[in-house]
Amino acid sequence: MVNFTHYLPTKFVFGRGVENQVGEEVKKLGATKVLIHYGGGSAVRSGLIARVENSLDAAGIAHVSLGGAMPNPRDTKVYEGIELIRREKVDFLLAVGGGSAIDSAKAMAIGALYDGDFWDFYSGKAVPEKSLPKGVVLTMAAAGSESSNSSVIMQESTKMKRGLRVELNRPLLAIMNPELTMTLPVYQTACGATDIMAHIMERYFTTVEDCDLTDRLCEGAMTAVIRAARIAVKDPKDYDARAQLMWASTIAHNDTVGVGRVMDFASHQIEHELSGMYDVAHGAGLAVVFPAWMRYNLPKHTMRFAQFAVRVWGCQMDFEHPEKTALAGIEAHESWLREIGMPLTLKELGADPKDIPELAKKTKRTNPDGTVGKFEALNTADIEAILHIADR
Ligand code: NZQ
Ligand code: ZN
Repeated sequence: MVNFTHYLPTKFVFGRGVENQVGEEVKKLGATKVLIHYGGGSAVRSGLIARVENSLDAAGIAHVSLGGAMPNPRDTKVYEGIELIRREKVDFLLAVGGGSAIDSAKAMAIGALYDGDFWDFYSGKAVPEKSLPKGVVLTMAAAGSESSNSSVIMQESTKMKRGLRVELNRPLLAIMNPELTMTLPVYQTACGATDIMAHIMERYFTTVEDCDLTDRLCEGAMTAVIRAARIAVKDPKDYDARAQLMWASTIAHNDTVGVGRVMDFASHQIEHELSGMYDVAHGAGLAVVFPAWMRYNLPKHTMRFAQFAVRVWGCQMDFEHPEKTALAGIEAHESWLREIGMPLTLKELGADPKDIPELAKKTKRTNPDGTVGKFEALNTADIEAILHIADR
């Protein structure tokens, strides 16, 4: 295990009907005026926004609302929110929705207290020093933004998605009622499960040895997600499956299963260019990128992929040919993605293979030497090769 600091200030309130507690919970955090930020309207149609407003009213907390956070949330909405926060003297942000509404609220929360352009933080020009406090009423199990230190925003003019990972981004409150996710379209449910799996896999594929505890936590969580996703896409009203997925989305990305390991995150960086350029769902993009990334890295990391195959997918270990076991695990992962309705190729995603060089060039580099990823550091040629595997 490598050294770590794990900072997790989020209070989780989980279960049926808990959205009705939001007023009293927000009050305990000292809020006096709340901005409720939500997406394209699903939370209005389901009556959730009205229930949240009633709960805030009952707690005597003033509030204003701003809808319209789009999947792949736009910088333009963030600017609008920052202006509203300042004009209305908002002191707490409450995102109601999935990762997009939450990430948009996170960006507003730091942007409102900054004199310059909030994009400075996402482009790496500046590091934020303060943020307004924020909470979440979660309606979708996927991104894990309800307690992650991350926020991802798309710059509308360039179609570039950029993330900001800082501890200030972690929400103080996450209200999580699995029933709220039952109205999610099947495709979005599958996208969410794919993203949850990917968050665990980004941590699981590490070069750090001797992290048996988190290995086992990752493997157990992945096994539960595989099972719950199969149930939830067939029976969207299955509470237990929805509950498993919702808690898994949280622990997958708040580092409960990631501490003490070096995480990879190359697949995520490559995917962000896909969802930025084609405006596709993040989970669907990961369904295309991650298997290709695994196939590309298999020869150098055969035993790690074989462990994934045996412990997560129940494959038989072939000690004479471990590469066969490793490949069987990747194929099992792909079959699961297919089974829940995910695309596996660039074409199925609606991406044009002609754009591969541009996608590879634009992919954000996270290492000082201009490569991306820790399990295997990738340069532009590697990224192109991975995207060519996805062009099948
Ligand atoms: O906008 P509305 O009308 O609410 O509809 C949304 C949207 O169309 C709908 N939806 C959400 N809850 C629903 C529902 N529809 C019916 N019933 C419900 N209960 O689902 C669609 C997708 O919502 P979105 O918030 O975009 O999905 P998700 O939670 O997957 O978030 C995706 C965004 O999060 C970023 C992604 O890049 C992407 O931009 N990520 C954020 C991370 C983080 N902050 O830690 C980490 C992730 O790796 C990811 O990059
Ligand atoms: Zn993700």
